Amino acid sequence: MAAPEKAVLILGGASDIGRAIALALAQSQWTIRLAGRSVPDLQREADDISAYSGSLVTVHSFDVLDTASFIAFVDALPDLPDVVISAVGLLGEQHRAEIDLDQAKEVIRSNYEGPALILSVFAERFLRRGYGSIVGISSVAGDRGRGSNYFYGSAKAGFSAFLSGLRNRLAVNGAIQVMTVKPGFVRTKMTEHMKLPPLITASPEEVGEAVLSALNRRKDVIYARSIWFFVMLIIRLMPERIFKRLRL
Ligand SMILES: NC(=O)c1ccc[n+]([C@@H]2O[C@H](COP(=O)([O-])OP(=O)(O)OC[C@H]3O[C@@H](n4cnc5c(N)ncnc54)[C@H](OP(=O)(O)O)[C@@H]3O)[C@@H](O)[C@H]2O)c1
Repeated sequence: MAAPEKAVLILGGASDIGRAIALALAQSQWTIRLAGRSVPDLQREADDISAYSGSLVTVHSFDVLDTASFIAFVDALPDLPDVVISAVGLLGEQHRAEIDLDQAKEVIRSNYEGPALILSVFAERFLRRGYGSIVGISSVAGDRGRGSNYFYGSAKAGFSAFLSGLRNRLAVNGAIQVMTVKPGFVRTKMTEHMKLPPLITASPEEVGEAVLSALNRRKDVIYARSIWFFVMLIIRLMPERIFKRLRL
């Protein structure tokens, strides 16, 4: 007998990483629900994925800054998905954020407050139902604050700590998986202006495959390329007196 079809909701569904995850899951015959700010963009993507995979793909309007709408957003979905993934993120402009509190606030809210609160709503619904998986795309930038992106990095640190705490709380239950994804460098719209080292830079498709495989193995924390575990180990262990002198 064929396995029952599963549904995934991808918040930030028009992101390059979100799209790659959607494609990987659609090829395994999942129903895909894409949520984001631009419904026309999502619809174009949905049509592509559906034509390519034959999976059902639906689109839903969602703004991670509009926290007041979160309960109504979840209530209006066609069903409670098996898996929810937050691929929402905003790198923002570090230099601007240093002098513009509104920019700093948008980066902090887009990467921490919004994703944590919406996943909180799903955690309670999954608990009530008895199963579900929650996936947050966080970042190695949250593992240690750096001068070049500490508004983004500190928000991702908060998001990683939120996911860790939620996982810790739900571990006794065992039926709800909470996974943190720290992709490392990925070639996407977010990083197109950066020169990235090829050895530690993944494609969005690699992240998509890594998420699918880690979901099946019920992993807790993953990097897209395992070399990042060792890179971040060194960065985390570096004494502050040396670290603060590096221009990172
Ligand atoms: N690329 C990397 O090297 C890298 C590394 C580590 C982690 N990440 C994380 O991976 C995730 C996906 O990023 P990406 O690299 O694929 O970049 P991306 O294509 O720029 O995706 C960012 C997504 O966040 C969405 N978003 C931003 N603000 C939003 C809001 N207020 N409401 C709803 N959606 C909003 C964007 O929506 P619009 O399409 O409407 O703009 C976009 O879909 C992010 O969480 C990012 O922080 C990326």
